[in-house]
Amino acid sequence: MSKEIRIFSPATVANVACGFDVLGFCLDTIGDDMVIRKTEGKGIKITKIEGYDLPFEPEKNVAGVSALAMYEALQPDCGFEIEIYKKIKPGSGIGSSSASASGSVFGMNALLGNPLNKTELTKYAMKGEALASNCEHADNIAPGIFGGFTLVKSVNPLQVLQLPTPSDLYATLIHPQIEIKTSESRAILPNKIPLQNAITQWANVGSLVHGLHTSDYELIKTALNDVVIEPYRKQLIPHFNDVKSSALSAGALGCAISGSGPSIFVLSKGEKTAKKVEESIRSAYSKTDIVFETYVSKINTEGIKRIDD
Ligand code: HSE
Repeated sequence: MSKEIRIFSPATVANVACGFDVLGFCLDTIGDDMVIRKTEGKGIKITKIEGYDLPFEPEKNVAGVSALAMYEALQPDCGFEIEIYKKIKPGSGIGSSSASASGSVFGMNALLGNPLNKTELTKYAMKGEALASNCEHADNIAPGIFGGFTLVKSVNPLQVLQLPTPSDLYATLIHPQIEIKTSESRAILPNKIPLQNAITQWANVGSLVHGLHTSDYELIKTALNDVVIEPYRKQLIPHFNDVKSSALSAGALGCAISGSGPSIFVLSKGEKTAKKVEESIRSAYSKTDIVFETYVSKINTEGIKRIDD
């Protein structure tokens, strides 16, 4: 069995418009690399972090916290070193903390001969994610670990459903280079919502899930609508409405905040439309003075993976 593995831990889009805290999907062109190494000495050490300035103390680092949770539960007869090559900017809204939290447990599990299944890995990764957002939710972690679209049916007990990915679905993302902390964008949300909004939202979640199962792009289009969270959070994202209207005019199926923002995701049918959407939102955002990046990505149905074999 190998002593060291290198992995790719992908970025993810949580919420998917109507599915706050339950729906998510996995991206394939953006993600972190991590190296996990088995050591004879016991314990968890973070030995290298490149890309962003993050804490090396395992109990203060999301990758370390999830690793410690799994380590304490399994009590293996070895230790682990973790190297993080961070490419997903923290606070970007595309699952930066969950990619790190998932990467360490995925790597340790592989080095131990895969004693844990994907749901169990998700459970330990959630411990790390909780450090970043002050609350345990798995809508970024589950799609990274399972791949494709996922629905977190419940957190306690943890139950993750893997949903089908229509083959012609593409994501376009824009990441305005401002930071929004998940904890802060959760703090602005109301505790109660009007019944009519709840009815619209759960009708959309059900329709989106049905649309994914039946590859019904028209149904997906009408279901990608968030009447509960977006009205509050869009105020934190400069020019959100301009991005949304330019994406929809370019033929997108839907456009909404990615996770807790500031990234905005768009889903389109076909790569050609996804690229046209990218051009359109680039042109809209170029009129602002905010630096931004855009990406086009197929939905990644594989999820987190080894990249050394
Ligand atoms: N569902 C979470 C939120 C995702 O929107 O706050 C970000 O961690």
